[in-house]
Amino acid sequence: MSQALTVDQIMQTGAVIPVLVIDRAADAAPMASALVKGGVKVLEVTLRTEAAIDAIREMTTVEGAIVGAGTVLNARQLDRAVEAGARFIVSPGLTEGLAKAAEHAGVPLLAGVATAADIMRGLDLGLMRFKFFPAETSGGAPALKAFAGPFGAVKFCPTGGISLANAMSYFALSNVVCVGGSWMTPKDAVEAGDWGRIETLAREAAALRG
Ligand code: 3PG
Repeated sequence: MSQALTVDQIMQTGAVIPVLVIDRAADAAPMASALVKGGVKVLEVTLRTEAAIDAIREMTTVEGAIVGAGTVLNARQLDRAVEAGARFIVSPGLTEGLAKAAEHAGVPLLAGVATAADIMRGLDLGLMRFKFFPAETSGGAPALKAFAGPFGAVKFCPTGGISLANAMSYFALSNVVCVGGSWMTPKDAVEAGDWGRIETLAREAAALRG
């Protein structure tokens, strides 16, 4: 059994977290290996496909990979993901049910927020780390910069519309620890099994934070 990590350890280790949509479980291990080889270790497998739970299981066998589940919408999905080996949970939004389920399972949760009210609800539930989603359409880096005033101790992982081109505008902020995005695993590269290209994209992403 892998050692439990805190949400801060997850965010610091995964400065850039790939948001993965996996259609074929057979792609999971080679994809994870390519990402880890490129220097990207924290991997978020979204529960958006039938193959996702099997993909999590497969990825946990890859040395160096720290695998979590994304697009987790409720307690039942959280439990399934944890059972498959997910070491952290990401959700697009925040519900009390999900926050309680994560606490009960003892798994780090990065719940999605987009407004000050969302953050306040998260604080009430004992959360201090959030996914900022969808980042680019929710005000982007200027919005996060504004959150640093009232929520000085809160840290974020923005995702949604982030790429190599704009990631640095987020990393420039004191309340951003990591960013997430799907740009490291283009659909055509996955379909073609072009793991070399994915490794290159991972290497470029990992270099963003030095
Ligand atoms: C998500 O959770 O869907 C991520 O934000 C991915 O967004 P992107 O595809 O714009 O990177």
